[in-house]
Amino acid sequence: MDIEHVRSRFVKHFDGATGVVYASPGRINLIGEHTDYNGGFVFPGAVDKGIVAEIRPNGTNTVCCYSIDMKDWVEFGLNEEDAPRTSWAKYIFGVCREMIKRGVDVKGFDTCFAGDVPLGAGMSSSAALESTYAFALNDLFGENKIDKFELAKVGQATEHNYVGVNCGIMDQFASIFGKKGNLIRLDCRSLEYQYFPFDPRGYRLVLVDSVVKHELASSAYNKRRQSCETVVAAIARKYPQVEFLRDCTMEMLQSVKDEVSKEDYMRSEYVIEEIQRVLDVCDALERGDYETVGQKMYETHQGMSKLYEVSCEELDFLNDVAFDCGVTGSRVMGGGFGGCTINLVADELYDTFITNVKERYKAKFGKTPKVYDVVISDGARKLTE
Ligand code: GLA
Repeated sequence: MDIEHVRSRFVKHFDGATGVVYASPGRINLIGEHTDYNGGFVFPGAVDKGIVAEIRPNGTNTVCCYSIDMKDWVEFGLNEEDAPRTSWAKYIFGVCREMIKRGVDVKGFDTCFAGDVPLGAGMSSSAALESTYAFALNDLFGENKIDKFELAKVGQATEHNYVGVNCGIMDQFASIFGKKGNLIRLDCRSLEYQYFPFDPRGYRLVLVDSVVKHELASSAYNKRRQSCETVVAAIARKYPQVEFLRDCTMEMLQSVKDEVSKEDYMRSEYVIEEIQRVLDVCDALERGDYETVGQKMYETHQGMSKLYEVSCEELDFLNDVAFDCGVTGSRVMGGGFGGCTINLVADELYDTFITNVKERYKAKFGKTPKVYDVVISDGARKLTE
């Protein structure tokens, strides 16, 4: 994340003056996928890739934004009816609106931003953008009155209300609460969280990006969430205490087998198992048992591919290659439908695996996957005074 790059563009586009620079990261998730909106556990960490933005209040009621990467300029007002049409600008507009709804007196500002989180790779570039602006507007217009939990919710509400993705809280939470060298075990129902120092001796975490993007990812995502809610409603008719799939056992799920569709049943089966896998992985990590961690990652991939059906041919192939190479753990990461696999690789296997996966993927799909080493880093912050 390069401050100088952003600053030089800010100065160029906005009369030579400077503003304040903020940054927020993307995230990885070791395990716990599609569990957040089911009230379950997730296990993410912030990464060393994210969004950097420079911002300066401009004394008007207009926000003037420049996206350095897209080379695109958008201006908008701060009222509900001023929503921009450009997709990247909707995130910034949404954050402004959600901050206003929480009592922050957001005024016009000039801003430009750039990012190095690969788009559509399942590393939460959009949460990085939301968290950057939520953090910045709280600092510039809100006297930092909004706490960090609420800042994460601002990003989530932006997705729900201005982007149309009914996401959970994981991505925004990781982007705001990230801590260098630590993963975060988050209980998405209570928002209780715990940092886990993550320094696997003898292993490395590496992402392999399929460079596939699924066009309908957001509607398919919303549909998955809908399936879970349908099943919860059926179970709650028998067990009124049940609020989320988090509260359900397999027996409860079985008790509604004839009342829900086969598809919704499979989705819920995956979620109930996945919530337990997060807890199992935390236990295994505390024992330094990376073999179990890896095995659970493979189980997650199977579940996401066969039960939740959010994988694709390319991701399944990457997972198979990892397994063939003897990689300890591998699975599709994030919402799915494209993007990366996350791999837990023994040091001595790293080079062979990377060479192998690149060659075999290229031979099969005609394109080379990208590889990112994971560096677990800090969350949202201010980079200049
Ligand atoms: C996306 C969403 C998250 C989460 C993951 C799947 O990244 O934004 O809230 O549901 O998918 O775990």
